[in-house]
Amino acid sequence: MDKKNFRAFIVSEIAQGVFQSRVGIRGIESLPAGDVLIRVRYSSLNYKDALSARGHKGVTKRYPHTPGIDAAGEVVCSGDNRFAEGTRVIVTGFDLGMNTSGGFGEYIRVPSQWVVKLPDGMAVRESMVYGTAGMTAGLSLMKLERNGLTPNSGDILVTGASGGVGCMAVALLAKRGYRVIAATGKPEQSGFLHSIGAIEVIDRKELEQMPVRAMLRERWAGVIDSVGGRILEAAIRATKREGSVTCCGLVASHDLKMEIYPFILRGINVLGISANQTPIAVKEWIWHQFAGQWKCNFLDSIGKECSLEQLEPCIDGMMRGKSIGRTVVKVS
Ligand SMILES: NC(=O)c1ccc[n+]([C@@H]2O[C@H](COP(=O)([O-])OP(=O)(O)OC[C@H]3O[C@@H](n4cnc5c(N)ncnc54)[C@H](OP(=O)(O)O)[C@@H]3O)[C@@H](O)[C@H]2O)c1
Repeated sequence: MDKKNFRAFIVSEIAQGVFQSRVGIRGIESLPAGDVLIRVRYSSLNYKDALSARGHKGVTKRYPHTPGIDAAGEVVCSGDNRFAEGTRVIVTGFDLGMNTSGGFGEYIRVPSQWVVKLPDGMAVRESMVYGTAGMTAGLSLMKLERNGLTPNSGDILVTGASGGVGCMAVALLAKRGYRVIAATGKPEQSGFLHSIGAIEVIDRKELEQMPVRAMLRERWAGVIDSVGGRILEAAIRATKREGSVTCCGLVASHDLKMEIYPFILRGINVLGISANQTPIAVKEWIWHQFAGQWKCNFLDSIGKECSLEQLEPCIDGMMRGKSIGRTVVKVS
């Protein structure tokens, strides 16, 4: 098996700081050590993959590299008897696609501690519509509910709503009976956002242009934010007493410049989300929720499919903030 070749999306540093990608052939022997070799059927595109493909050294230090922080397929061989040959599995996060060759190739080899069995009731492709974006939305919901949020608490704001994490959060919250207010920079996508469960769609400019005051009129019972910066600040300032705000992303900014008044006068909780290093048992729990009571509606309209050859323009769109929904990558 180690002599076999496979197709992969390969990013190379062709001159210092200059990166180029192509679909090429790699040898299985070039994969890192690990006890589970997986034939990848589907992957998905996440913001971190776009950064890796553009040479962001905070994500990937060594090139040539195959990104892809998500992968789903079947076990080819394994040194762990929990994963027999042919078992259908999912890998999301940990180091996959960062400095470990990722899901944009027909094979990955990873430690068994990163691997989750595909739950009953979920198709391989479906798992990649969720992918890390769905995992992140699921972890956000889990933490919000552990902090007391219920569908009766009031309106929930989702920022970056047309993006991967955002649309999965909208669909998941709506499925769970929450009133979702979707904030987007693409007002033309309000039809899409309503169709996956948003009650109301607002232009993100409304949040960006909120007055910079210590606190604003209480509006949100909870928030799932994936953009950071001014939008996250405005969301925290307008969260209702004892409400919670999850924070996972920084597409707008990594800054958070505000006074502490919402925390000490309204008891607001900011809940950090770090999907990739989430313990495998928690990831397993989230996958089982997605196969059961959290199974989202409208996955067909959320997940658009592309091939390895079609990835480059999708990455380009993502880097320009243009992505809509989830991109599922058909690998083999
Ligand atoms: N911490 C974690 O565990 C974790 C896990 C997954 C992702 N993330 C992070 O979450 C973020 C989103 O990831 P993703 O995969 O969902 O990316 P994505 O699909 O590209 O979605 C990002 C969305 O953010 C909005 N946006 C883009 N540029 C913006 C700007 N300048 N200001 C405000 N909003 C902007 C856009 O939605 P609208 O046009 O609808 O506003 C865009 O579609 C990234 O920073 C990613 O690294 C973190």
